[in-house]
Amino acid sequence: MSVPSVVPHHIAIVMDGNGRWAKRRFLPRLVGHKQGVNALRRCAQACAQRGVGVLTVFAFSSENWNRPADEVSGLMELLALALAREVPQLQKDGVRLFFVGERAGLSPKVRAGLAQAEAATAENTRLVLNVCFNYGGRWDVAQAAASLAARGEPITEASMNAAMALAHVPDPDLLVRTGGEMRISNFLLWQTAYSELYFSDRLWPDFDEAALDEAIAAFAARERRFGKTSEQVLPGHTALAPG
Ligand code: IPE
Ligand code: IPE
Ligand code: MG
Repeated sequence: MSVPSVVPHHIAIVMDGNGRWAKRRFLPRLVGHKQGVNALRRCAQACAQRGVGVLTVFAFSSENWNRPADEVSGLMELLALALAREVPQLQKDGVRLFFVGERAGLSPKVRAGLAQAEAATAENTRLVLNVCFNYGGRWDVAQAAASLAARGEPITEASMNAAMALAHVPDPDLLVRTGGEMRISNFLLWQTAYSELYFSDRLWPDFDEAALDEAIAAFAARERRFGKTSEQVLPGHTALAPG
């Protein structure tokens, strides 16, 4: 394992390509989603080993309700199954789980499972894993603004930051999308304002440790300027006196 020198603190991933992975093997799409859970377990472990502090993944979008009913119900069942099965391993790996998204749209059984898994892992400190489920970036911005309005608080960048669904972690340093598409698909619209973007042609079930290392290495080679000039952000830069 080659560990790149600059490891992003927070990696966000659009885990795309499960359906195509299955289709290429003449298998039902749900088999691809099951493989996707395995890829997520592997990726979370690899992130923890590399010193990544936060991993945020897009598991089910506000728009994914528009899929065929059997795929949607299959995904809900898979979530319940994964919750029951994965928590002991998350405990061993020191992973603290958060579910991020609109819970009102989920069944009481699924909601109870999410709360239980969060409570069970609440003491873990090695890696924060945010699973965005029934999440949409526009929903997040709207719910943040609505909660501030309901409390009569002014809407500022700071108050919005504090009201957003990922207020418990800093913004993502690196946003990865697998599966070859180059779009955001209503993921973290507010929080990725200055994230480095990385697109991989790999389908999510095939995204392994080597692919993660490639993404981290690409990140390490970027120059993050945050609006400044290259000279300002070079290591060892000292401001020159005018004239
Ligand atoms: C991503 O994989 C998982 C979810 C959206 C739930 P897809 O199911 O979108 O896979 P493709 O894009 O059809 O291959
Ligand atoms: C984005 O993937 C959502 C998740 C990975 C959960 P989609 O496959 O739903 O995105 P689009 O519809 O192709 O943009
Ligand atoms: Mg897709």
